Amino acid sequence: MSRGQEEKIQIAASILSADFSRLGEQVTQALEAGVRWIHVDIMDGHFVPNLSMGSQVVRSLRPIADKFNALLHVHLMVEEPEQYLADFMRAGADSVSVHIETCPHLHRTIQEIRALGARSGVALNPATPLLALQEILSEVDFVLIMSVEPGFGGQEFIPSSLDKILRLRRVLTERGLDQVLIAVDGGIHSQTAGPVAEAGATVLVAGSAIFNDHGSVANNLRELRAAIGKGKT
Ligand code: DX5
Ligand code: ZN
Repeated sequence: MSRGQEEKIQIAASILSADFSRLGEQVTQALEAGVRWIHVDIMDGHFVPNLSMGSQVVRSLRPIADKFNALLHVHLMVEEPEQYLADFMRAGADSVSVHIETCPHLHRTIQEIRALGARSGVALNPATPLLALQEILSEVDFVLIMSVEPGFGGQEFIPSSLDKILRLRRVLTERGLDQVLIAVDGGIHSQTAGPVAEAGATVLVAGSAIFNDHGSVANNLRELRAAIGKGKT
């Protein structure tokens, strides 16, 4: 991978695995270490079998992110996500991704996100084929490929996701849509980050690899960056 490509790859820190008793402090550590995307996982206990947080967390993180010119990315793992878009935008979201599996009127939902002033993303579960994106690809700012089943942090990366990323990269190139970012979410750590970057991802979402009890946030990020630089490991 060329130096230029490496620099374009962003790490997004998913706060799902952070210590919520000191969330501001941990997010600040990630921002101080150079992270510019904070990924906020919203779960409703219906679309995914877990509950997480609501828009108040985005509102609390907004001034912290602003100090570093960082983006707050909301990953909505909820049924009927269109009900919550305005609320998350008021709270300060910069970009919002909705799951294709939850949106019967995806075109309208994507337009709504854009009309509210956010970057729009469409997320795909591991078993959802890329084909489902065909008609919407030119309308979105990014695709979020789930490389685990959504709902929990700390799961194992599903290996077939690599081929999916490669195929999506190919389609984007063929269709002249290289401005569409490929974000990959789930199981990203120092063993998987290299191959994921090599396959063509532009944003690597990592939760438990950044926020854990083993290392400092800064060291964990250093390891991830080193892994991205190494490509296939
Ligand atoms: C899973 C979430 C992820 C999660 C990733 O449903 O969407 O963003 O935080 O966690 P790790 O990096 O631990 O797999
Ligand atoms: Zn996520």
